[in-house]
Amino acid sequence: MNLPKQAQLEFSHDVLVIGSGAAGLSLALHLASSLRVAVLSKVKITDGSTFYAQGGISAVMADDDSVASHIADTMNAGAGLCDEQAVRFTVEHGRAAIEWLLDLGVPFTTEKSSDGHHELHLTREGGHSHRRVVHAEDATGSALENTLVQQARDHVNIELFEHHLAVDLIRKDGRCTGAYVLDRDRSRVDVFRARFVVLATGGASKAYLYTSNPDGSTGDGIAMAWRAGCRVADMEFMQFHPTCLYHPEAKSFLITEAVRGEGGYLRLPDGERFMARFDERKELAPRDIVARAIDHEMKRLGIDNVFLDITHKPADFIIQHFPTVYARCLKYGFDMTRDWLPVVPASHYTCGGIITDLHARTDVKQLYAVGEVACTGLHGANRMASNSLLECLVFARAAAEDIMAQLDATPAPPPVAAWDESQVSDSDEHIVVTHNWDELRRFMWDYVGIVRTSKRLERAKSRADLLNREIFEYYANFKITADLIELRNLALVAELIIEAAMTRKESRGLHFIRDYPDLDPALSGHHTILTPAEQPRLLTLTEALSHRAAF
Ligand code: FAD
Ligand code: SIN
Repeated sequence: MNLPKQAQLEFSHDVLVIGSGAAGLSLALHLASSLRVAVLSKVKITDGSTFYAQGGISAVMADDDSVASHIADTMNAGAGLCDEQAVRFTVEHGRAAIEWLLDLGVPFTTEKSSDGHHELHLTREGGHSHRRVVHAEDATGSALENTLVQQARDHVNIELFEHHLAVDLIRKDGRCTGAYVLDRDRSRVDVFRARFVVLATGGASKAYLYTSNPDGSTGDGIAMAWRAGCRVADMEFMQFHPTCLYHPEAKSFLITEAVRGEGGYLRLPDGERFMARFDERKELAPRDIVARAIDHEMKRLGIDNVFLDITHKPADFIIQHFPTVYARCLKYGFDMTRDWLPVVPASHYTCGGIITDLHARTDVKQLYAVGEVACTGLHGANRMASNSLLECLVFARAAAEDIMAQLDATPAPPPVAAWDESQVSDSDEHIVVTHNWDELRRFMWDYVGIVRTSKRLERAKSRADLLNREIFEYYANFKITADLIELRNLALVAELIIEAAMTRKESRGLHFIRDYPDLDPALSGHHTILTPAEQPRLLTLTEALSHRAAF
């Protein structure tokens, strides 16, 4: 929609939440009984990763499961890099998060127990030693997001702003006091002032050519926080989901890991179930192992894809458990009750991000980060399936509690200057933006993907440097557009990913580099900490957080 341009506006709220996925909306709902909250979405309200989540939300709900087991599985998947405090905190709050969602009315799948009661159906995914994934059929994300959106729309204290893209944070007197925001329908940059600002902008998987994510996963929050002076950690750990549908029109449609959890096999074209050659857990090994195994077999045999086969299960079981995946595959000509599905890995999740503590605080006062944008230490070197929605919910509540506790001591934000466009003109060369988008995502896929080498990383770095210089020049001379802002953010985040990957001279979890193929035990617990205007360092998260006062 293009509406007539009007004078810039200034909005003022208690809390500005940038992002309307599971993290942003649940945070807004926790605060709205006492505070006035603005929630921004750069596209339509439902269009973040949350809506597309399939598998579910992990939590200890079964009698034969335990917090200790969920913690152990998470730490095991995280390959010696999870922060135990963050893992314990998240897992211990899992049940309460699910109960909160049940109270809101999220329609999770249930089954009849032996004594005739309806209880939550729990599915299984890679890395989990128990059934502990709460889900709404195979479309958990849309069930969750629709419920949260409905609740937020109904709340008098929550104002939702669709098609509003945050460009940069406003920092004054050492604290964050708001953001400059592009109203996309009016092509105008407004000022949003707030006592507290929360980044809930999701991940950066769009840095890669093939991704399971929606188009908006361009790392905006990470880039904005970096420019505002926050440190980021663990950016080398980009997760590739092993099974996206291989079809020219499917745009990397995800085939949920629950298909393997419910007994699906991975096969080569000749039918071999190859995962046993890579890990004794076979198809249920953690994602890094499965994605690397698939990548290895595809390169070894020169094939375009491998296959996911669940045809040995009864057709009604498949259709009942995976109605969304079944219908979508059918649309592309595959009947998963009879056909093997062609699958390939695609970029899926950003394990690293803005460093936060257990209250979701960042390095900048009154600025919080929640959800995929943050690095809490939960995921370590590899996120276990279905732990991320849980993290969104648990840390949204933690941030809300911290904001409430700080309210009285936090004054109203001071006035700020309006956005100044007097020195820039309309661009006449949009091709520069589209070309650079394509180039960036291609070299990240080829050089900074599932298997890395030092040489490839160096190549990627020199291209990213050049691109960032070009984009900087373009940004300084022309009026901003949503495409340019996203490209500027993605190019910066790509540079952070490359920098982190070059710093970690070992292979661990999702970061596999041929020149250093082994895990270095001395680096266990050491996160790659990137600090604006300083050299990267490997520190424990506790060291990093305790340095904040000096930072
Ligand atoms: P998102 O849901 O991605 O929301 C980001 C929000 O930020 C959007 O509203 C967007 O518009 C807004 N935004 C971004 N930049 C700006 C800006 N500059 N200005 C204004 N607004 C902005 N995890 C699980 O735990 N279980 C699963 O089963 C699961 N399945 C998945 C399946 C798929 C296909 C995908 C892609 C991911 C899946 N994940 C799953 C991961 C999980 O969905 C995400 O990690 C999680 O939803 C992230 O939530 P979020 O609130 O942090 O961000
Ligand atoms: C899936 O359903 O396979 C995605 C689960 C996740 O990414 O956590």
